[in-house]
Amino acid sequence: MKNQTQTTKSNPILSIVKYGDPILRKKVKDITDFTSLPDMTEKMFNTMYEENGIGLAANQVGWSLNLLVLDTSNLEDEANNEPYIFINSKIISTEGSIVLEEGCLSVPDIRADIIRPETITLQYQDLNQNFHENTFSGIVSRVIQHELDHLQGKFFIDYLPPAKKLLINKRLLEIAEKGRPSTGIIL
Ligand code: CO
Repeated sequence: MKNQTQTTKSNPILSIVKYGDPILRKKVKDITDFTSLPDMTEKMFNTMYEENGIGLAANQVGWSLNLLVLDTSNLEDEANNEPYIFINSKIISTEGSIVLEEGCLSVPDIRADIIRPETITLQYQDLNQNFHENTFSGIVSRVIQHELDHLQGKFFIDYLPPAKKLLINKRLLEIAEKGRPSTGIIL
């Protein structure tokens, strides 16, 4: 028997927008009205935890806004164990480069090694509209960069060379049509 969906009125789980939905190719807008953000970010965290994700961009739940959340505390060897909320964020500098495997809640069952800057300096706002500038490295840096790509209408698979893209084209069509590919792949 199916479990009852564990949602309450105060923290319902949102559905994740999948690859193929045009909202994920659209650049988001900066946030000027912060009033609903505590409620929205709580819903995003609940959705992310429910889906076992470590980061989530607002357009992945249908909101075309410059907002992302992340929490890598359930990863092994991850010293960083606090949830983060980044509003109106932009990368102002980067350093180094590193290859790490990525996956995405909007592109299920596809994983690939992607090269990106290792360290980033990020300018962003918090829920109280205060501005911050902080430097991040490791997994947190990687997740921020992946989610910021979403906010620009970009996917991690866009970085793949044509030969590897060919290997996932059928799966991407299946995700757009059915929400999941018939078989997973690690590139
Ligand atoms: Co993603």
